[in-house]
Amino acid sequence: KKISILGVPMDLGQNRRGVDMGPSAIRYAGVIERLEKLKLDIDDLGDVAIPRPNRKEPQMQDNLRNLKEVAEGNELLAEKVDQIVSEGSFPLILGGDHSIAMGTLAGVSKHYENLGVIWYDAHGDLNSSETSPSGNIHGMPLAVSLGIGHERLVNIHGYQPKLKPENIVIVGARSLDEGERELIKERGIKVFTMHEVDRMGMTQVMKETVDYLRDRTDGVHLSLDLDGLDPSDAPGVGTPVMGGMSYRESHLAMEMLQESGMITSAEFVEVNPILDEKNKTADTAVGLMGSLLGEKLK
Ligand code: ARG
Ligand code: MN
Ligand code: MN
Ligand code: MN
Repeated sequence: KKISILGVPMDLGQNRRGVDMGPSAIRYAGVIERLEKLKLDIDDLGDVAIPRPNRKEPQMQDNLRNLKEVAEGNELLAEKVDQIVSEGSFPLILGGDHSIAMGTLAGVSKHYENLGVIWYDAHGDLNSSETSPSGNIHGMPLAVSLGIGHERLVNIHGYQPKLKPENIVIVGARSLDEGERELIKERGIKVFTMHEVDRMGMTQVMKETVDYLRDRTDGVHLSLDLDGLDPSDAPGVGTPVMGGMSYRESHLAMEMLQESGMITSAEFVEVNPILDEKNKTADTAVGLMGSLLGEKLK
């Protein structure tokens, strides 16, 4: 199996500097060496060239911060990811803030009739410029992928929508804005909040997630925001929310996804080494990648 690693040094989807160094932090934490031990064929494609904003121009337009650069960066990403999937390789994307999911999904989804997505996150990232409390595009990629939002974003890579609401499962949500809750209800998106994770346990949550996606999808993308984990296990994130999934629950989730054999692409986002404690969050991300891709002690 060939895995193509692509870094996306994007920090323009939010307003805390440092998350653009996520790909470096994850490489420094040994991602290549770790995955090579699994007898996987690893191809590191380096980083996408994310444009820098012109600071003389206003950053905010229509309640969308850095719209132009975020859109351009995601176009480049979509093209690369499209190519990786065309070559039959597994895209493993390293963020960067979560706005990069727009580009990843744009590149992956055209290869599938019914792409499933597991959104492992404290947040829903289902805002649009109308509902967003922050104007930060990293809070919008899942809505954008459904075709909801600014036309420049929903049309990345030339088509829309990238996803159907019934093919999405959100896991670990505990900070949803009002507009996001309405969208979830309106579109019937499946969500396992932290309440369900606590009540049912991660084993049952993952079992139901896999069962739900198994029949209706022909590929499944894992979009893992490190802030889905508890801040004690993943402190290096820009929008931490208390009461998250533990290191252990997250490893279990990754192992169960590996056993399912259904994951066809993945991204790990929001690692911010400036906010981190001795690269702990990048180390955690690399550990989770190992479990997702088959590292398990017999
Ligand atoms: N819901 C908030 C917003 O729209 C926070 C989003 C956080 N998203 C993330 N990918 N960490 O601004
Ligand atoms: Mn293309
Ligand atoms: Mn989040
Ligand atoms: Mn997110």
